[in-house]
Amino acid sequence: MHIAIVGAGSLGLLFAAKLSSVATSIEVITRTGMQAEVLRREGISIEKEEVVPASKFTIVSYEDKESKSGEEAVESPLDFLLLTVKQTAIDDELLSWIRNRISKKTTVVCFQNGVGHEEKLLGCIHADQLLLAVTTEGAKRSGASKVAHTGRGTTDLGFSRDVLPKEQLNTQKIFAGLLEKAGFAVSLSKNMNTKVWSKLIISSVINPLTAILQIQNGQLLHSSASQELMLDLYQEGMTVAKAKHIELPDDLWEKLQLVCEKTAENQSSMLQDLLHHRSTEIESINGSLLRMAEQLKLELPVNRSIYRIVRVLENK
Ligand code: PAF
Repeated sequence: MHIAIVGAGSLGLLFAAKLSSVATSIEVITRTGMQAEVLRREGISIEKEEVVPASKFTIVSYEDKESKSGEEAVESPLDFLLLTVKQTAIDDELLSWIRNRISKKTTVVCFQNGVGHEEKLLGCIHADQLLLAVTTEGAKRSGASKVAHTGRGTTDLGFSRDVLPKEQLNTQKIFAGLLEKAGFAVSLSKNMNTKVWSKLIISSVINPLTAILQIQNGQLLHSSASQELMLDLYQEGMTVAKAKHIELPDDLWEKLQLVCEKTAENQSSMLQDLLHHRSTEIESINGSLLRMAEQLKLELPVNRSIYRIVRVLENK
């Protein structure tokens, strides 16, 4: 299996390191040339677990992607291309690079937090080639080549289209098998919309609150004031979901609290981004909810304020 991973953030590094034991080749595409150099020198280390040597990977920097993409495409046609970037990074340039890099037999697997990724990708690839992944694996990057596996979770996997030809079902199973062999728990889903939206609602509560309050996920449950804020955000998100007729589990509020408990010691990805002065996923999470609410003529006052505060913090 030939795999490429676009995006060497915490999830990208974790999946690249783990999948290197089961894939024929792994290509890691970084955003900066600087990170590519470090990875070529040091490989990837998963803290307290293992160091995967650089020889296991082909490292390509997105900065010199144009010169590299042509050659690589001829050398190793890809079976799977994993996208572990923020939704805002999926721009025309990246889409055209993906189009050049993949063939008809490549399946693109989009790991997403928030919404909007699928719409962008479907402008460049066919729905039969797009697998969506929503994961609760916890990962924290602590350097250009270092990542900690901070919590074991499950990865939900499903095609973007509901009705699938047999061949696609097979591809889904092959990828699930690879993830399982690499040590991840996988659940195949026929209704990814529900999974994507459940994660969207959960992230719209945990991520901005932990980022603004600068606390670990579990600490959200420690005060009644933060629980009230959580409930406000949750209810606003649910209003949008209901207006859009999205099917969601009845116990999503309990699930949200369970995520806080299970990831109690973790820093949410949004808090990690702010602490490292990186842009956050606020646009694809609370920003998306606000844009949908506007179209539906709904008011989300708590989301609006929280969104604005995170935008201010991003520019600090
Ligand atoms: O984005 C994250 O850090 C996680 O996915 C979390 C906090 C569980 C929210 O979905």
